[in-house]
Order: sequence, then C-alpha cells, then structure tokens
Amino acid sequence: MIQDKIAQIREEIINFDLQNSTQLEDFRIKFLGSKNCIKDLFSDLKNVANEDKKVLGLELNSLKILAEEKFNSFQYDQKGNKSLNKRIDVSRPSESSPVGSHHPLSLVRDEIIGIFKRIGFTISEGPEIEDDWHNFSALNFPPEHPARDMQDTFFIQKDEREMALRTHTSSVQVRVMESTPPPIRTISPGRVYRNEAISARAHCFFHQIEGLYIDKGVSFADLKQTLLHFAKEMFGSQAQIRMRPSYFPFTEPSAEVDVSCSLCNQKGCNVCKYSGWLEIMGCGMVDPNVLTACGIDAKKYSGFAFGMGVERIAQLKYRVADLRMYSENDARFLKQFQSGI
Ligand code: PHE
Repeated sequence: MIQDKIAQIREEIINFDLQNSTQLEDFRIKFLGSKNCIKDLFSDLKNVANEDKKVLGLELNSLKILAEEKFNSFQYDQKGNKSLNKRIDVSRPSESSPVGSHHPLSLVRDEIIGIFKRIGFTISEGPEIEDDWHNFSALNFPPEHPARDMQDTFFIQKDEREMALRTHTSSVQVRVMESTPPPIRTISPGRVYRNEAISARAHCFFHQIEGLYIDKGVSFADLKQTLLHFAKEMFGSQAQIRMRPSYFPFTEPSAEVDVSCSLCNQKGCNVCKYSGWLEIMGCGMVDPNVLTACGIDAKKYSGFAFGMGVERIAQLKYRVADLRMYSENDARFLKQFQSGI
C-alpha cells in the first residue's frame, strides 16, 4: 500500500542520523537525488484510484518538503564538518543574560539625593575644572591657605589659564549664589580631586555631596535639625548626631558632624574605634564674606552649608574596608550590590 510506504519513508527521514558529510550525501541521494524513493512513489500514483490521487499527492509533496527542510537545516562549512547551528527552535526559551548592578557609590549618592530632594533641595552641578575664584577665593580662602598648595590641589593649564581640578563641590555653590537670588536650597553632588597618595583610606579623587541653604533668618538650629533628619533617614530612626567645633574658611561657626555608630549601637567596635561615633561631614553657617563675594546681601540673608564624602557614607553602610575597591571595577565586589537595583 502506498500509504504504508509514505509513513515508512516519513519515519526514515525523521530518524535519519545526520552527523557528517557522508551521511548528508547518503540522505540527499536517497530522498532528494534524481532517483529518490519519493519520486518512485509519485510514479506509483498512476496506479491509485482517481479519488485518492489528490490526497496522496499532497502527502507526497509534504514528504518531499520534509526531506528538503531537514537537508537544508544542516549547514556545512567548507571542510565538510557539521556546523553547530542545527535547525533553530524559535520556541525555545532564551538563555538569561547576566544582570549588571549599580555601583555602590551611585546607590548611596542617589539615596542621599533622594533624602534632600524630599525636603525641597534642588540639585546643582558644575565643572570639574575650576578657576581659583570658584574653588578658593570666593570661599574666603586666604592667599596663603595650605589647601591652595600644590600638595593638595592638582593645578592644570587650560586655554593658557592656570586652573585647578576642584577640591570640593563648594565651587558649585558659589556658582549658584552668583546666579540665583535667595532663597536657595540646593545640593551639589560630584567628583572632586585632591593630590593625595592612594591608600586604603585616601584617594586622589572621590565624590562629595555638599548642601547650601540661604534665606532670611536661617539659624544653626535649622542646620542641626536638617542634618539630624538626614542621619535618621540614612542610618535609621535610632541615629543620633553630635557636632564638634571645627574650622573651614567659608563657614563661621563651623563643625564636624558625627553620627552614632549603627554597627555596634554605640557599644564600641573597631569601625568607630570604640568611641561609639563616626565622623560623616563638615558643616557651618556660611561666612558673611562668602555671601558678599557672591553678591548676596549678608545683612539680609544668612545660610548654612554642609559637605560629605559619598565614599565615607557608602563605607559605613556597606562596610567597605578599602577605598580603592570603589574604582578597581572588580566584578566580585560590584556583584554584591545587585540586590540594590
Ligand atoms: N567643602 C568642605 C570639604 O570639602 C566640606 C564643607 C562644606 C564643610 C560645607 C563645611 C561646609 O571638606
């Protein structure tokens, strides 16, 4: 019976082992060659009853297509070796591609920005190559201040002018004060540079977020409350802050801010050096000289400023022991922050 032969040939085509060029050639001769077995069946059609001819003809055609498709889906390179791309199964689920992760500094920067954004701070950015005025002079640095020294600052020539890689993002705040009438409430995130030997605790570049608030009647109490709010949002509601008197040329009075050590709940650990406190930023009331230099009436307005290192906050949050890890691009380090996406 011709139907049985069709079924048998179909099985043969499906099960034919195609591994190398010899087998492929055998396959071609048997099913697609000039004297192939499907052709034989076509000539048998003339012995079939007329009413069956149409159906059987269609079946034989599909048999021919099956053989052609199997043959075509095995592609051979010039040497006659079987190539790897067999027939493509479009229904197969794709392999998952590796998921990247945000850099820990980006995660922490975005978290800090989010906290200040929610209490009405805008974000301002400025150039990393700065002039003396914006990085130092407008900020009340006296000409002989050691921070201006080559030892701390990278100086470069740009368009025949002596410029510096900014040592802090306070330079951005000068630009904001010069261009915006108060009230001003802004934070400036960005990369800063200092000429330091690279070690586990220091790097020649790092990231800062500095804040500035200028309005009528802004007081030290406003500064303290704002920073306490920040500490609780960042480190948890149990967080406390303390302020120690300090000095910056651009603020008066000035303070260093410590946050209670959340790693040991102030019991004392090696991270807080058994003091229960961790230093996180500098702050103070904007010096009236700075307001005046930036064209703001110091009799009418007052303000506070603060500045923190993103690496430092990230170090406390993720317990990163060595600053250099942030810029080494070691995938094993970065992978640990995948859940933070
Ligand atoms: N600009 C200071 C620094 O880079 C930080 C700071 C900002 C301190 C604002 C006080 C007020 O160290």
